[in-house]
Amino acid sequence: MQMRPLGRTGLRVSEVGYGAWGIGGALWVGARDDESLRALHRAVDLGVNFIDTALGYGMGHSEGLVGRLLRERREAIYVATKVPPKDLGWPARRGVPVSKCYPADHIVECCEKSLRNLGTDHVDVLQLHTWQDRFLDEDGWRDALLSLKKSGKARLLGVSINDHDPGSALRAVKSGVFDTFQVIYNIFDQSPEDELFAACLADGRGVIARVPFDEGALTGTITPETEFPDGDFRNHYFGGDRKRQVWDRVLRLKKLLAEGEAKTLPELALRFCLAHDAVSTVIPGMRKVANVEANTSVSDGRRLTPSARTALRTHAWHRDFYS
Ligand SMILES: NC(=O)c1ccc[n+]([C@@H]2O[C@H](COP(=O)([O-])OP(=O)(O)OC[C@H]3O[C@@H](n4cnc5c(N)ncnc54)[C@H](OP(=O)(O)O)[C@@H]3O)[C@@H](O)[C@H]2O)c1
Repeated sequence: MQMRPLGRTGLRVSEVGYGAWGIGGALWVGARDDESLRALHRAVDLGVNFIDTALGYGMGHSEGLVGRLLRERREAIYVATKVPPKDLGWPARRGVPVSKCYPADHIVECCEKSLRNLGTDHVDVLQLHTWQDRFLDEDGWRDALLSLKKSGKARLLGVSINDHDPGSALRAVKSGVFDTFQVIYNIFDQSPEDELFAACLADGRGVIARVPFDEGALTGTITPETEFPDGDFRNHYFGGDRKRQVWDRVLRLKKLLAEGEAKTLPELALRFCLAHDAVSTVIPGMRKVANVEANTSVSDGRRLTPSARTALRTHAWHRDFYS
């Protein structure tokens, strides 16, 4: 496993990290704790030292599993978690003041809950789960976060940027409040390359690249016939004719595999994320050991060729399936 600096924080993180939304269950129906724990352990066996979770993932269930892993391992494992917006508004909506999403007492209370779920006295990165740059113009939230940092309960502070909207955090990068930025970055959504990545590189901010497989689309396993369990959020994400749209895109993308840059689509998808210097770690969701083994094996020090990166630019696709 190759390690990369998490911006200027001094931490060195595995370039393939672990996305722990799916193991929280709830919106990802069918997660099994025994399988999830095996996947988490296998990831650590294979050098993963960075896990992204959130209080909101299964109402603390994901954090609970991560906490169990921490107790069962001796390795240094860095955990990033998230404070949910109090109004449960995903993404942060225009016109809603930060006092409604992130009042100071809510931030502190959520951090304490996360620490209890994890069974630790600190988290490595405490992220706000939504963001709008106009939050910077209001007070309250900032003092709460900075006092958690001062007390050591949150080693570092971060923002999880709204879906497909990296431009909404450019002022936050410059503000100096936050150490890390989590953003959707994958073959379909390449928009962080427009401005965000250069800003993060210039100011030494860590970048956590999320949803590298576009919720599974870029693994090539979602066909027009795929069905998800009742209650699974992917029924919405891939609703209507979206599975067909995705499949048509994926068939075009698969032709690139013939050029030898990657043997599989998941490998190509991860290599795409790791090709950018701004990316500190990419955090695929992976509830299964086989997926952990496949994804960690991509960290072999080889980078995509410039011609492959150029070819992948033509596969960018602007849309928002979350809304
Ligand atoms: N707003 C936010 O802050 C936010 C939003 C979304 C996600 N995130 C973070 O980003 C992480 C990653 O995003 P995600 O989990 O939503 O989606 P993702 O990583 O784009 O895709 C996950 C899907 O890909 C499958 N998969 C993984 N490796 C595979 C492989 N090698 N071959 C075939 N299939 C494979 C997974 O299957 P299995 O799980 O069944 O193994 C799962 O169905 C999350 O876990 C979470 O930590 C943050």
